[in-house]
Amino acid sequence: AETHYHDFVVQQTPVKRLCKTHNIITVNGQFPGPTLTARNGDTMVIKVTNRARYNVTLHWHGIRQMRSPWADGPEYVTQCPIKPGATYTYRYTIENQEGTFWWHAHSRWLRATVYGALVVLPKSGSTYPFPTPKTEVPIILGEWWDRNIIDVLRQAIFTGNAPNVSDAYTINGQPGDLYNCSSQGTTKILVNSGDTVLLRVINAALNQQLFFSVANHKLTVVEADASYSKPFTTKVIMVGPGQTTNVLLTANRSPSRYYMAARAYASPKNAPFDNTTTTAILEYKTSKAQLSKPILPRLPAFNDSTTVRNFNKQLKGNPSIAKVSTKIDENLFFTIGLGFVNCTPGPRCQGPNNTRFAASMNNVSFILPRRTSLLQAYYQNVQGVYTTDFPPVPPVKFDYTGNVSRGLWQPRFGTKLYKLKFGSSVQIVLQDTAIFSTEDHPIHLHGYHFFVVGQGSGNFNPNRDTGKFNLVDPPVRNTIDVPVGGWAVIRFVADNPGVWLFHCHIDAHLTWGLAMAFVVENGKGELQTVQPPPADLPQC
Ligand code: C2O
Repeated sequence: AETHYHDFVVQQTPVKRLCKTHNIITVNGQFPGPTLTARNGDTMVIKVTNRARYNVTLHWHGIRQMRSPWADGPEYVTQCPIKPGATYTYRYTIENQEGTFWWHAHSRWLRATVYGALVVLPKSGSTYPFPTPKTEVPIILGEWWDRNIIDVLRQAIFTGNAPNVSDAYTINGQPGDLYNCSSQGTTKILVNSGDTVLLRVINAALNQQLFFSVANHKLTVVEADASYSKPFTTKVIMVGPGQTTNVLLTANRSPSRYYMAARAYASPKNAPFDNTTTTAILEYKTSKAQLSKPILPRLPAFNDSTTVRNFNKQLKGNPSIAKVSTKIDENLFFTIGLGFVNCTPGPRCQGPNNTRFAASMNNVSFILPRRTSLLQAYYQNVQGVYTTDFPPVPPVKFDYTGNVSRGLWQPRFGTKLYKLKFGSSVQIVLQDTAIFSTEDHPIHLHGYHFFVVGQGSGNFNPNRDTGKFNLVDPPVRNTIDVPVGGWAVIRFVADNPGVWLFHCHIDAHLTWGLAMAFVVENGKGELQTVQPPPADLPQC
């Protein structure tokens, strides 16, 4: 195994998009940021220097951080932010994981432009469980704002209303041909006729689920969230924020140019969203192809939940890699949803009927501490930073996806964590609620990946649904897109001590409090305990 050293300088960089030059926050002046490549078993040492004017932290999305929770990155959860002028070095070993990961800022909304791919190849001497593709390329889907992203965030927080929608979607940082002033930079993927390419599709968008398709070409899904899946072929994939999907594409059509495109999958009728389309070009390497006008793929309608349901149904895990546990020590039921809190009428209260937006899990709207990080508080036994009374089930039972009166449930704010015994088998039912509107929620668990044993629409009904769980070949993921007005059930074994954030990967929802954290207690023995923090860990 190797050790990879990288220097990341977070800085302000002028970038021209949509006819204007903007100052955005980047890593090393690159947008998207540098792609990191390593092999399963390698160690990463990434020295981050903050030369920007905002606090920053970085997160290595999907990496389990076994015994290295101090390198996980969410601000005020596993570390205090790296202040302007300061430095912090993330060190971790990639243990028994390979596939498509990514890294992104995990402080306020900086991940809008601070992100990049993290590719973990099989150990040298081993191969993919599918024929080795000729080439491979990250396809990072993103969202672009004309305005400074921290201003977009501040406005949303100040008014208590939904944030402005983005001005473009991007593929590898470029909006593409269909937007003004964007043709020049359009991302181009060159292929030889007959070659198979591995596309590592990452949804780095801040707030939007996206459909992705390539004109006239089939996509064979081979991996999702850095876990190999049973291959299946499809025309379109849906990727939620935080999720990754690897697909194989064979260049077996007439040598020409084809668009790959992404567009919103948006569930609610009443919430605004960006309805534009981003494109990149798949170009066959022939002189004739260069002249042809690319064809657009047909993408599903923005509200096509049937396509999404079918896609999820086809995704199956590889049972030879890991077996789902059938014994359950902790059976948790979390409602996830958007709602409102009342506020005093005024400029800070622009939600409907004198309210501000809030989001919650089991009626608790999560608040980050500021004094220190949760992990430091746990490790140093600092009292008063959090409480461990996060409710394992909702405090009130009702028809979660029916016509729920808004007054029924007003979330309480809190920094409540749930304690898990080291080694316990955990099942969590995630239930979307309809207090404001039903929505998709891509829920991400730090420090773990999990089996998705069931998904469905409406209210979860244990008597009806438990028998239908897939305990044979469920997909393994780190981010589960809980269906609109529906539920999903995940399972994992709490074998990684630390404090781990569990949250909606739509940043608007995270900001409104759609999050909680688990404390996984120390087990017996050196390797089952949280090791001391590194000397350069930032202080608050
Ligand atoms: Cu990809 Cu908590 O993040």
